[in-house]
Amino acid sequence: MQNEISNFKLHNPVNIVFGKDRIKELPRLIPAGSKVLITYGGGSVKRFGTLDRVKEALHSFDIGEFSGIEANPTFETCSQAVDLIKEEGYDFILAVGGGSVIDGTKFIAAAAAYDGNPKDIFAAGIGQGVRIKSALPFGTILTLPATSSEMNATSVITFKEEQAKISFSSRHVYPQFSILEPELTYTLPAKQLANGVSDAFTHVIENYLTYPVGGMVQDQFAEGLLKTFIEIGPDVIDENNHDYNLRANFMWAVSISLNGWLSVGVPGDWSTHALGHEITVLNGTDHARTLTAILPATMHVRRKEKHDKLVQYAERVYGVIEGTEEEKVDAAIQKTVEFFKKINMPTNLTEVNVDESDIDFLVNQLVKHDKINISEHGNQTAEVHREIYEVALTNNFLK
Ligand code: NZQ
Ligand code: ZN
Repeated sequence: MQNEISNFKLHNPVNIVFGKDRIKELPRLIPAGSKVLITYGGGSVKRFGTLDRVKEALHSFDIGEFSGIEANPTFETCSQAVDLIKEEGYDFILAVGGGSVIDGTKFIAAAAAYDGNPKDIFAAGIGQGVRIKSALPFGTILTLPATSSEMNATSVITFKEEQAKISFSSRHVYPQFSILEPELTYTLPAKQLANGVSDAFTHVIENYLTYPVGGMVQDQFAEGLLKTFIEIGPDVIDENNHDYNLRANFMWAVSISLNGWLSVGVPGDWSTHALGHEITVLNGTDHARTLTAILPATMHVRRKEKHDKLVQYAERVYGVIEGTEEEKVDAAIQKTVEFFKKINMPTNLTEVNVDESDIDFLVNQLVKHDKINISEHGNQTAEVHREIYEVALTNNFLK
């Protein structure tokens, strides 16, 4: 167990272009003369006029389009874009969308520059887990703040055939730039807004709710972000509230929740994400909703391992100063659940259509994908996964 801040390197090169009306700056951000492939999802960017603004800005560029990158982007769909790039010779990609389009584009960029079998970019039972040496350059225009994919080097891809959701990371898939226009969030429905707040909240928690190593900067950044989400979350999920600063704070808080600043030098957990991904594979539940359904049970089952941080979280994030340490831990879990409920997120597995009979499948999937001995202590085994899933069915430990 580490007891001090560990050595780290951090080189996050993403050029963030934040604010109003920034899409028009695309010609300055993409190298002149590039042949650009615009990637997007199921059509929201067409419906709400973002694609037209992009095309207008890029009128002097040679451009093509690839649409249909689905939520939880699949290897199968993204591979079609790789073929298109090889056939038509694009040299820059522009992802316009949420985490799924950006993640899909990261894989497309990596696979287009890779000579071997693209599955080898992934480990965990899919391929060899090779370290890629290059990727096609790409930029992003973020339309859904949730994942921080716009400011990190990770991509999560779904493999239909293998029934798996697996990530890869490489410094070569940092976006060259990300345009963050808070006004692009005005068309998001309440459910996606709540997903965004909850996914980012859980990213902070995975980096923070471990054990203390004296990372004052990481801890207080994390606590500031958690307090921000708790404060603005209920207003953010009001799809009719188009207050600019509200959405600007939301967008920026999300981007820095998983861009490396909170994770360097300190332990991380990521077990709630691992357990959640298998639920998405099982029944297609939105990523963020799997997290809020699992996290309360993780806090409860792992309360000994996470004791000191749970107390710190109760005191500093929720201002719980009365009571014993055990009571503070109880309050921390209770208040987390209350927050998720306030923003209309599920807080147990029954609410995301998982029942007792699914647990064998979920645990077996984790074993198959090498997700054993995970968490900040490296001791969250398959038995512990099972216990968390079982507790999470109803969370009847809650008052
Ligand atoms: O496909 P379109 O028509 O564009 O509609 C999308 C999609 O249906 C819609 N949407 C996006 N922007 C919109 C909009 N609708 C109206 N107005 C807008 N401005 O929203 C739907 C969901 O989009 P999606 O991109 O799937 O959501 P999200 O950003 O939550 O991404 C989820 C994916 O990211 C992965 C998840 O596992 C999941 O696959 N993650 C990626 C991470 C990373 N790269 O670091 C970390 C995360 O933990 C997460 O695992
Ligand atoms: Zn997440």
